[in-house]
Amino acid sequence: MTVYNIALIGFGGVNRALAELIAAKNQLWERDLGFRLNIVAVSDLYLGSVISPNGLDARTLVEANFAKGGFGQLSGGSAEANNETIIKTAPADIIVEATFTNPKDGEPAVSHCRWALSSGKHVVTTNKGPVAIAGQELKALAQANGVRFEYEGSVMSGTPVIRMAEKTLAGAELEGFEGILNGTSNFVLGRMEDGLDFNSAVRQAQELGYAEADPTADVEGFDVRLKVVILANELLGAKLKPEDVSCQGISNLSATDIENAAKANSRWKLIGSAVRNADGSVTGTVSPQQLPLEHSLAAVSGATNAISFNTGLLGSVTVTGPGAGRIETAYALLSDIVAIHTAQNAAATKEAA
Ligand code: HSE
Repeated sequence: MTVYNIALIGFGGVNRALAELIAAKNQLWERDLGFRLNIVAVSDLYLGSVISPNGLDARTLVEANFAKGGFGQLSGGSAEANNETIIKTAPADIIVEATFTNPKDGEPAVSHCRWALSSGKHVVTTNKGPVAIAGQELKALAQANGVRFEYEGSVMSGTPVIRMAEKTLAGAELEGFEGILNGTSNFVLGRMEDGLDFNSAVRQAQELGYAEADPTADVEGFDVRLKVVILANELLGAKLKPEDVSCQGISNLSATDIENAAKANSRWKLIGSAVRNADGSVTGTVSPQQLPLEHSLAAVSGATNAISFNTGLLGSVTVTGPGAGRIETAYALLSDIVAIHTAQNAAATKEAA
């Protein structure tokens, strides 16, 4: 039986949801996936940090109502976050990075990933910052250290997008994509169609846990822009930086715009897209678009996300599913660990042959 020792960096919604899944499903995973997960360290800006080489009880971590600095009360604990020490010295095989997304320079998550990969630990992350801003560097660092850098949850949470396009659509000749890649803005547009005003709709999205720490990133398109960069670089071989992608959000859409669209049998959607041009370059765009009701993305409602891949051999292939949410995003981390496990097994089989 394989046991992966993991260290959780950030213990907000997503990593807490992963701990909940571990508490409930480790036995099932052992049977169905061939491994179990053992949490050997946790670090969080608010709660502090703890290292326990034998493993921490996932249920206790989730259920204990720790106060600020509360990890300091645990054996091997400190009231300080100590991220660098935890990442470099905890006896972990995999660092699970789920701190907040910083859309400007990706920090401190970029450093977390660098420390982990340079010390020979795999990284799985749902954080868009390091992938969009330093993805190429981090992938090279992972390769140089013989470990993996996986980030399925950075786009559309646990809904399979990156590996689906890369592996399952391999050879289908991907030419571009267009998608609803932000749950908050899609939810807000839907609530505005129901007659709610913009600010109340944003507040509801925050209460439901879809919105970023700063919801400006959701409604101004900055969150989608990072996702367009991630997908264009990963799937279309582009080398885009966020500032290369033109970006317009939904905050200028008025109640009248929404009503007029409905009268014209259409609705507004915030669309993130990228296309490969004839000269091989790739253009990425984020903008609100008025889609006719029969368009495949027009019926995608609430916080649901969807992406249509435009391929040479299959035409348009659309994937729809959750794009946010605690458990949904924690599932993406599990899927990354499954990918690491599959790759390790394949390497071991090759070595034995
Ligand atoms: N705030 C994002 C959204 C979460 O609303 O889609 C996932 O990136």
